[in-house]
Amino acid sequence: MTKHLLLLPGDGIGPEVMAEVERLIAWFNVHGGTKFETDRDVVGGASYDKHGTPVTEAAMKKALEADAVLFGAVGGPKYASAPYDKRPEAALLRLRKDLGLFANLRPALCFDALKESSTLKPEIVAGLDIMIVRELTGGVYFGEPRGITNLPNGERRGVDTQVYDTHEIHRIARVAFELARLRKGKVASAEKHNVMTSGLLWKEEVTKLHAAEYKDVELTHILADNCAMQLVRNPKQFDVIVTDNLFGDILSDEAAQLTGSIGMLPSASLGARDSNGKQRALYEPIHGSAPDIAGQDKANPIAAILSFAMCLRYSFAMKKEADLVERAVSGVLDQGIRTGDIMQPGKRQVGTKDMGSAVLAALDTIQR
Ligand code: IPM
Ligand code: MG
Repeated sequence: MTKHLLLLPGDGIGPEVMAEVERLIAWFNVHGGTKFETDRDVVGGASYDKHGTPVTEAAMKKALEADAVLFGAVGGPKYASAPYDKRPEAALLRLRKDLGLFANLRPALCFDALKESSTLKPEIVAGLDIMIVRELTGGVYFGEPRGITNLPNGERRGVDTQVYDTHEIHRIARVAFELARLRKGKVASAEKHNVMTSGLLWKEEVTKLHAAEYKDVELTHILADNCAMQLVRNPKQFDVIVTDNLFGDILSDEAAQLTGSIGMLPSASLGARDSNGKQRALYEPIHGSAPDIAGQDKANPIAAILSFAMCLRYSFAMKKEADLVERAVSGVLDQGIRTGDIMQPGKRQVGTKDMGSAVLAALDTIQR
């Protein structure tokens, strides 16, 4: 069975971290049963520079046809003043929308070797393992009307619309409940029902679905601002957090930092399974393009590597192989090998390529 992967390295450190993922794919092509075939294309600023658009129709077609998309990062200061539809980020939003990737899974897992590198006390983060389930194709990111208009009084008005329909809430809550069943059985649903009607609908619909189908899962409702506070106060109270697109964007960055570095965290964006069993999916590190360190062999490739592990787990049901990659990463950290973002006194600092090599060496060792 050959799996077709589309690689979209993008901008900044995207190509560097993707290069390490490609070495990992090559390793599995030699050592595993499943074969991976890769295609690649430009996206984001790289695409804009080459084609005048952040994502071409040809790249979109490849993404729709691939078994999974591996995404690097997009964006950079050069594009900061471009109109929204030409910005690198527009590529990511279009991919999410056109591929129907409504469920964004963002695990925040603190590796034991890194508990000292969090800005929080080690006892607060040691053993942390939470999963943020972020709605990804709705809410204020896509709601209409939106835009800037000129008012008769000479002022300007900016409008974005937060909007959710029942089915959007049900399908994302379902993902959260199903995941919780495989974990510690707890879901916290975060919204702002105290001020937002879309939040009230969210709370009511999650409650209904829970009562009808998921009574075995423990459900709590939490206001999104309180959730932000609880994440730094006592993050281990959470198992799965389900929330909307905007709150999920914010809470997942916050959760990432608990684990020591945003350079460590992967993500999966999943669509619905179609009648042929095919589920569209895109995997990306949650860090951005980090233009300040791009091209200097400084970036941490672990988030991209762990994103490939999520791809093995969720797109191809290759649990054994996904576990293997995660154990290899954990082993490398236990050996004291660190990129700059997670460097600690007494450890050995390496660059992007050497970190990639260390993970491959650890895979060889475990495999033997
Ligand atoms: C993320 C990013 C994106 C978002 C940007 C790049 C559009 O912050 O994936 O969290 O806001 O969703
Ligand atoms: Mg974000």
